Amino acid sequence: MKYRVESKDQYQQFYQTSMEDQNKYWEERAQTFTWFKKWDSVQTGNFKDLNVEWFSGGKLNITVNALDRHAENTPDKVAIFWEPNDPKESPIQYTYKELLEKVNQFANVLAGQGIEKGDRICFYMSMVPEFLIGVLATARIGAVHSVVFGGFSAKALAERINDCDAKLVVTNDEAYRGNKIVPLKNITDEALEKCSCVKSVLCLKRTGGNIKMQEGRDHWLNELLDLADKEFQPAEMDAEDPLFILYTSGSTGKPKGLQHTTAGYMLWASETYKNVFQVGDNDIYWCTADIGWITGHSYITYGPLLNGSTQVMFEGIPTFPDAGRFWQIVDKYRVTHFYTAPTAIRALEACDEKFVNEANLSSLKVLGTVGEPINIEAWNWYNEKIGKKNCPIVDTWWQTETGGIMISTLAGVTDVIPCHATLPLPGVCPMLVDNEGNEITSNPAEGNLCIDRPWPGMARTIYGDHERYRQTYFSTYPGKYFTGDGARRDKNGNYRITGRVDDVINVSGHRIGTAEVEDAINEHEAIVESAVIGVPHDIKGESLVAFMIPFHSDSSSQDLLTSVNELITKEIGAIAKLEKAIVVPGLPKTRSGKIMRRILRKVASGELDKLGDTSTLLNPEIVDEIIKAMK
Ligand code: PRX
Repeated sequence: MKYRVESKDQYQQFYQTSMEDQNKYWEERAQTFTWFKKWDSVQTGNFKDLNVEWFSGGKLNITVNALDRHAENTPDKVAIFWEPNDPKESPIQYTYKELLEKVNQFANVLAGQGIEKGDRICFYMSMVPEFLIGVLATARIGAVHSVVFGGFSAKALAERINDCDAKLVVTNDEAYRGNKIVPLKNITDEALEKCSCVKSVLCLKRTGGNIKMQEGRDHWLNELLDLADKEFQPAEMDAEDPLFILYTSGSTGKPKGLQHTTAGYMLWASETYKNVFQVGDNDIYWCTADIGWITGHSYITYGPLLNGSTQVMFEGIPTFPDAGRFWQIVDKYRVTHFYTAPTAIRALEACDEKFVNEANLSSLKVLGTVGEPINIEAWNWYNEKIGKKNCPIVDTWWQTETGGIMISTLAGVTDVIPCHATLPLPGVCPMLVDNEGNEITSNPAEGNLCIDRPWPGMARTIYGDHERYRQTYFSTYPGKYFTGDGARRDKNGNYRITGRVDDVINVSGHRIGTAEVEDAINEHEAIVESAVIGVPHDIKGESLVAFMIPFHSDSSSQDLLTSVNELITKEIGAIAKLEKAIVVPGLPKTRSGKIMRRILRKVASGELDKLGDTSTLLNPEIVDEIIKAMK
């Protein structure tokens, strides 16, 4: 495979070229893709002016590279093996030729709804084939997809639809999730009461459940797809035209819509997939993520298809009908490359071992993890029980903002170190800085993880708010992209990500902003103010704990927990529910009124000797009261 890193020496060589002659490095790789028109310049702009562009002047369509190329060269190769939620239901498979036809049909349906280049389309779906097909069709017509994970509430969905002014929403009647049914269309209907921008809704019939269709606005997707033409002329996109928006949480304010562009993202998703996983022509790749998150964008929708791989797409959950489901699917499709999250590994590790022992798993060659730091117990279990100590584990560190993997072992090429992401990919220049912003050049080191120079896959802006983009990522350490993560670097330059250093909490690999949850809690009629922190959790990695000041001092923590969680589910979604609520008479604040979450974290973990100097607080006496409430 052209330009794939094949050896340790080659990794060193590629990395060095990517740093010393960045434009040459990326130009060579860009030439392996199909363009309607070649670019004028490789990379322009910088982190100071925040005007980064890659391959400006070039014209292309990402789906031509993900589909047409393979439909021509390997038309009968399977692109997708779709495995339904219920193993008794029939699976579906699409070759590259068939997938291209399906995407063309979907693009024709979108055109029929008046969708044009640049329009925003929101997807609120479960993992059915039409989800992937629709997202690709959006790119084919030149519109911008904004996917909202099917676990978000109507309110959260409405906020995201309105923020990007989406014209059309694609959903399904209901989603199968294990033995549960999620009423996606009903939730969409509720959201759309507040979204005047949406002109039409395409609804896929999946469960056949009873839903309402609004005359003039709602259309059955299946019927339109059946009638649609199988040819569609892909739109000519500028290299820097937006490809998608994806919302993610930060330490302050509402979720931000990170905007990714066409050419740079395409190269990043494709090259990182190729180098990290090392998937061969006859291999079967499976990423268990949902397309609702960035992992499902880069390593289900785009990366594997850009490389012409065969992959499994799964509708269900790891524990339905039983906790052996992942391993049964691995055996059924002879999966060679398996990519999942530490939270799933821990959850399955906690189940009866017979589920793993009953599986064969001999097809596996490479294992991957993503989304949160993996603890050594989970790493060992994954390595021994699933990989049989025979599969390299790639611990891939990256973010919604980075578009694709930034630091990771390359499977079978560079060294695996348990719980370490290890080395940066070619093109990535990571650095550690201290709290004052000074770069730490010596090894070993620990500090705040920054990236020093533009890379093709980076998000270019926050939709509609470039200033917020600057403030969030480029103001803490001017001239550098600040990831929000802390990391350690060993004497050989290998990175180990230690977790967020800002007010973002990683629950089961999902990013939750403390401010968002606090805003939701503060809506509760019995609560004056609240502060949310993350505490270690065996399965979820971290879970949410809230300290809440009630209006009435006799309110009980337990009663409030139930009603606050109902409220959070409504405001954000069940993924942001609290594990624990503690009623307190006040919160520790600085003299400028900022809540000192650091102190709350120490109290919650019982590290009372590490509280630090509390005398500078506006209300130092409150710390003892909180300790008492905790007990
Ligand atoms: O804290 C890091 C953690 O997940 C954050 C990014 O979350 P999100 O944008 O939702 O993307 C998740 C999928 C890429 C990071 O800031 N994170 C991600 N991968 C790892 C990780 N932490 C440790 N090790 C990883 N491999």
